[in-house]
Amino acid sequence: MLLKIAKVLSAEALARARALLAQASWEDGRKTAGAQAAEVKNNEQLPRDSREAQALQALVLQALEQHPLFFSAALPKRVLPPMFNRYGDAANTYGAHVDQAVRYLPGGTQRVRTDISCTLFLAEPHEYEGGELLIHDTFGEQRIKLAAGDMVLYPGTSVHAVTPVTRGQRLASFFWVESMVRSDEQRRLLYELDMSLLRLRAEHGESAATVQLTGTYHNLLRMWADT
Ligand code: NI
Repeated sequence: MLLKIAKVLSAEALARARALLAQASWEDGRKTAGAQAAEVKNNEQLPRDSREAQALQALVLQALEQHPLFFSAALPKRVLPPMFNRYGDAANTYGAHVDQAVRYLPGGTQRVRTDISCTLFLAEPHEYEGGELLIHDTFGEQRIKLAAGDMVLYPGTSVHAVTPVTRGQRLASFFWVESMVRSDEQRRLLYELDMSLLRLRAEHGESAATVQLTGTYHNLLRMWADT
């Protein structure tokens, strides 16, 4: 499932994030890439343990925790600390690659399976030319360029790329989620059921049928979730 979520960051949180990004110093993005990805990766990232990166991580994680759509779509078990990248000038593109299947939490003790890839856009589309996130999957090729503060979730299994930025700077946060529900197909069914229930309740109020369907949602989640 590919899902765009609008306004993950409030205007206030976005302004704070931009201020932190403007103060930060950057390093070569190849540092955190696997062997195949490093061949095609040409961008910059915030050093993971810099003061700005830590403040930005907290800001993004807090916004995710408060976002009901993110929870419903991702059913997160573990979220890797968000990272931050910049594309522009000579470091302006990331060729086709698939993200590593398993990454480690800081400290290296805990493995995280990257079921879902997330990109949270932190620059407005008019601030840069190019810099589209291209995602190839069974649903065809998608070209994604969202408003600052909006996010896209897509299966970690997808081949994807960032097209060259030819003017301005593209700023984004990216991170991975290990989901309680490993299967993309099952997650999608749960998400669609949850969204339909929300609409049913909004249109018709609570009824014996919505109670039963809510039970079905939770019983499917119980059957499929690995906590
Ligand atoms: Ni990637």
